[in-house]
Amino acid sequence: MIIAPSLLAADFGRLAAETARVNRSGADWLHLDIMDGHFVPNLSFGPGVVKALRPLTRVFFDVHLMCSKPEILLEPFARAGADQINIHVELGAQVTSLLWKIRSLGRKVGLAINPPTQISAVQPYLDSIDELLVMTVNPGFGGQAFIYETLPKVEQAAAWRRERGLNFHIGVDGGVDFTTVADCAHAGADAFVSGTTLFGKRNLAAAVRKMRALVQRAAARSAATECVPAR
Ligand code: DX5
Ligand code: ZN
Repeated sequence: MIIAPSLLAADFGRLAAETARVNRSGADWLHLDIMDGHFVPNLSFGPGVVKALRPLTRVFFDVHLMCSKPEILLEPFARAGADQINIHVELGAQVTSLLWKIRSLGRKVGLAINPPTQISAVQPYLDSIDELLVMTVNPGFGGQAFIYETLPKVEQAAAWRRERGLNFHIGVDGGVDFTTVADCAHAGADAFVSGTTLFGKRNLAAAVRKMRALVQRAAARSAATECVPAR
């Protein structure tokens, strides 16, 4: 299980201190949202910021590119210290070459899918990725309400993963809080990106522990339900 605080919800005036807080929190990944003002109607930060934060922690850097031209950004983010780079399936014909390029840079490969996009769009890529990132809000901003209609996509991805014997992570991103995280875990997600809910707490380590415990409880409940013999 992966708990990934999203830096978008951190105090941008104190990014080094916020990164140090993540470092001490027991979180597995730091999720870094990159927005270009075109693919999404917002701007965040670039490879220079990622490079400046890299020496502050050994936590896994999970870069999420919400960008129309990721091809010009893959090398800069790989050099800046990204461990995994996610691009969006909505980029269409370019997806295959982008995934290949990320792999050739020696980085883990992530593929993100927006709420309105059918889950069938990711099917051709499942054996080439390390993470499928199911957006549970429309990307662009933190602090939005979780879209429950995205959960069947998580269930479908988990079914394909099982049937095909694959082991990519199924991540959820957007509106993941102490309630929705359990629903995501129950649907089959195993990587949980959470900005507002985690960074909003004074004690980030306690918030990460609480989220982990909720996921464990939900997963145990799902396993128990599966074991009940059908009458
Ligand atoms: C949304 C971003 C998310 C965002 C999640 O565009 O991709 O990673 O930071 O933030 P919360 O948890 O506040 O919805
Ligand atoms: Zn994100």
